[in-house]
Amino acid sequence: MEESILSVSSERAERRKVNPSKKFVKSAYVKSLREYNKIYNESVKNPAKFWGEKAKQLHWFKKWKTVFKYSKKPFVKWFEGGKINVSYNCLDRHLTTWRKNKAALIWQGEPEEDSRTYTYVELHREVCKFANVLKRKGIRKGDRVCLYMPMIPEIAIAMLACTRIGAIHSIVFGGYSAESLRKRIKDSEAKMLITADGSLRKGKPMPLKDKADSVLGKCRSVKNVIVCKRANIKVKMNKRRDFWWHEEMKDASPFCKAVEMDAEDPLFILYTSGTTGTPKGVLHTTGGYLVYVYQTTKWVFDLKDDDTYWCTADVGWITGHSYIVYGPLANGATSLMFEGVPTYPEPDRFWQIVEKYKVNVFYTAPTVVRALEREGKKWVDKHDLSSLRLLGSVGEPINPDAWNWYYNVIGKRKCPIVDTWWQTETGGILITPLPGAMPLKPGSATMPFPGVVPAILKEDGSEAAANEGGDLVIKKSWPGIGRTVWKNPKRYIDVYFSKFPDYYLAGDAAKKDKDGYFWIMGRIDDVVNVSGHRIGTAEVESALVSHKTVAESAVVPMSHEIKGQCLYAFVTLKRGVKKSDKLKIELVKHVARVIGHIAKPEKVQFADALPKTRSGKIMRRILKAIVEGKKDVGDTTTLADASVVKTLIREKEK
Ligand code: PRX
Repeated sequence: MEESILSVSSERAERRKVNPSKKFVKSAYVKSLREYNKIYNESVKNPAKFWGEKAKQLHWFKKWKTVFKYSKKPFVKWFEGGKINVSYNCLDRHLTTWRKNKAALIWQGEPEEDSRTYTYVELHREVCKFANVLKRKGIRKGDRVCLYMPMIPEIAIAMLACTRIGAIHSIVFGGYSAESLRKRIKDSEAKMLITADGSLRKGKPMPLKDKADSVLGKCRSVKNVIVCKRANIKVKMNKRRDFWWHEEMKDASPFCKAVEMDAEDPLFILYTSGTTGTPKGVLHTTGGYLVYVYQTTKWVFDLKDDDTYWCTADVGWITGHSYIVYGPLANGATSLMFEGVPTYPEPDRFWQIVEKYKVNVFYTAPTVVRALEREGKKWVDKHDLSSLRLLGSVGEPINPDAWNWYYNVIGKRKCPIVDTWWQTETGGILITPLPGAMPLKPGSATMPFPGVVPAILKEDGSEAAANEGGDLVIKKSWPGIGRTVWKNPKRYIDVYFSKFPDYYLAGDAAKKDKDGYFWIMGRIDDVVNVSGHRIGTAEVESALVSHKTVAESAVVPMSHEIKGQCLYAFVTLKRGVKKSDKLKIELVKHVARVIGHIAKPEKVQFADALPKTRSGKIMRRILKAIVEGKKDVGDTTTLADASVVKTLIREKEK
């Protein structure tokens, strides 16, 4: 029964295949499924050989002794014995080549007139100078440095400067509250905070330093604060503790030797939310992480030297770490960084930037695609997007409707879409098309990256049959895997290695079709059991969004006396569509048509806005609490707009 639900909905999608154009294939690194299969099979048969060869493309001060080994399962070591430096590989390595004067980082500020370009040689200079500032303030190898900054080039400079001297950075997304910042500083015992007077959001200055000040008194570990000027906000400076970035940089020397780090020395901590209230500090280490982001950036984005590459994520998330800064720079690429939001001053801002910089590779999230689709094609048509040759998607399953719009309207039917599945914990992309090799199936992240061995397991640990849903696990280690939870190795084991002790548990439900394509169905806790049938909420959402009136939807479980659980759907309509009970009935029928009666939502609530984090993720935890009528919906400090919650409670369906 379970199988039929999963397959009814996907069989139609599963049959649809989209091939890359001949032109794309001609210049692609991996050109056919046959070639991919050959590389994949060899990589899995002999991972040490595969990863060893990839690692050789980077600069090592000293070569590793073993490619990988378990210290004590599940704790793993990659490239043990090797000595390497991340900033050296992202910068110095290119300075002896023609790339020294190539644009490394192009920054577009929120105001159109604010932009800066750093060549590799210029970025190297800034990074060395700031590394010397860090040293002057007493930062040494192994110290933690917390970054709470806007999307300005200084955030990348600070990250690279930390890696240059072996300090461990911990970036706290600028949209987080002061309390979230305090918790993360406390857990990592950061010695320094780097921040700014404020950030700009839709033309308005938003304070950062002031927010930090409200908790710094409780953060004893922080000895110094470095402050960048960005938003023209007056701030209080504590003479003994706080220093201006521009003043410190004035007389800093541009020479700073990169420290030779052990491959397994910590590189950064990045906090991510778990099932409990306390965030997990995922720890990534040096050599393996760099090799992994280097190789995935190159093959997934099929990155070439003349590409302008733009990932729209915030640097404060793992996507920004791996695919704005480290992966692209390790490849000697030109990485574009944008400070603003997609809809300001107008909903064509992204397309205007694509046109302005002639962006070739564009990587964003499905929520952005849906939001911009909702604004209408006229905003796209104002711009020449002919430079685009590849599109990417990350963060959640991309529903076929958004996929089609992205493919047809943005990519003009000539750009493959790489739907990349991965997580903060995985360091880099694990399941993804290699765009010249795989026929795409809209809605599927397709196949594993070479060296990665995913599987779908049933509750008893046996492998699920084709199209049968189950837990997504990764069977073999890969160089980018997070090595532990900061100061909490037990939690690392409990969360990722206890349900199936030999494998990494992703926490996502997925299925694999007969052609070996992976379909991510959402987090395990987003799988709802209706009358004993397992239904992925992502699938129902996708069905709803495929209706011509729907812009976005979020489906959550609701307790039901007879069925155990049923589905409650929040639906955002496209602009100009009239809300009516008739439309609600039509939407329920539509879901029944697309998936089957079993997946019909019990309730539909129209919602002009959904509770989202600033990175655009819908907070289903909050929606679940609303649906269950809980008085306390939990922590809302990470929401982009907390007022949305009140409206949803008021308009809840009885
Ligand atoms: O549920 C999966 C979803 O995002 C989760 C990881 O979130 P985070 O650690 O914040 O990292 C986001 C950026 C890598 C996953 O467990 N997810 C991410 N990418 C996809 C996805 N779900 C479906 N398809 C994807 N391409």
